[in-house]
Amino acid sequence: MYVCICKGVTEKTIQEAAKSGVNDYKSLRDKTGVASQCGKCGSDAKNCLRQHAISQ
Ligand code: FES
Repeated sequence: MYVCICKGVTEKTIQEAAKSGVNDYKSLRDKTGVASQCGKCGSDAKNCLRQHAISQ
């Protein structure tokens, strides 16, 4: 499922980023480009990262 339409970032992409050691929102944005265009997906991206960071 897409979290960020503008950048085409999916929940799976965020999950994989979390697995590879990304554990904060800024790093996630740098790595995937999520929320770097319209910014509407920011809170969803944060929630998604939090979920996957906790479930590791
Ligand atoms: S939906 Fe993510 S930047 Fe627009």
